Amino acid sequence: MKLMLRKSLWSLMLLLAVGVAAYTIHLLFWSTHVPPFLRERLASHAPSLYFHLLGGSAAIVLGALQMNMRLRKKFTAFHRWTGRVYLLAVLMSGTAGLEMSVVATGGWVAKSGFATMALLWLATGLLAYLAIRKGDIAAHRNWMMRNYSLTLAAITLRVYLGITFGLLQMDFMQVYPIISWACWVPNLLFAQWFFVNPIPRSSISNAVS
Ligand code: HEM
Repeated sequence: MKLMLRKSLWSLMLLLAVGVAAYTIHLLFWSTHVPPFLRERLASHAPSLYFHLLGGSAAIVLGALQMNMRLRKKFTAFHRWTGRVYLLAVLMSGTAGLEMSVVATGGWVAKSGFATMALLWLATGLLAYLAIRKGDIAAHRNWMMRNYSLTLAAITLRVYLGITFGLLQMDFMQVYPIISWACWVPNLLFAQWFFVNPIPRSSISNAVS
């Protein structure tokens, strides 16, 4: 039962990840209805926007594959390579996201929300990489859990926008600053409580010695 629930949640996550990536690629290359604020970004920050959207799309899909324990165990080499590409995609998208946060819609609250998320995204990615270079699998797994919970903000942001702006017709400029924080803080806390494992004492003393 527990296994079935885990499989269903993972499948749902993969589906939503592919959905957001497909929406992003469509927006970038095929959409005829580019929202006005995105047209502004294209005019002022085109390279950053491309780096952010392409890197983000790769990260959200590859990250979902990385989270699957069976895939990880069965295809270790695949896990290693997709992990490298995932971290490069986070670096690319996070750096561009940080640059774009300076001009984000919604005033200083939204700007600081996106900037903090970008910095944490980059920092947790770097810590995950450093942990695996040291061979510390437990710490690597924990940092990746935190990191991917931030990647999933791309889904939660759109769900919250759909509910508040789309369904409840709330004022976009009022809800967007709140959502710029709400899309990632609960994700990170949820990952910390439910998916981050305590590091075994032996692994801590090994890392220190
Ligand atoms: C987790 C760290 C992330 C940060 C800090 C971040 C930050 C930002 C910022 C600042 C903007 C511009 C908002 C504005 O101009 O008002 C933006 C737009 C956008 N981002 Fe991200 N982002 C992140 C992750 C992702 C991921 C993983 C994707 C997945 C594909 C993504 C897809 C998009 C899209 C499609 C837009 C265009 C606007 C829209 O349709 O909402 N982002 N992001």
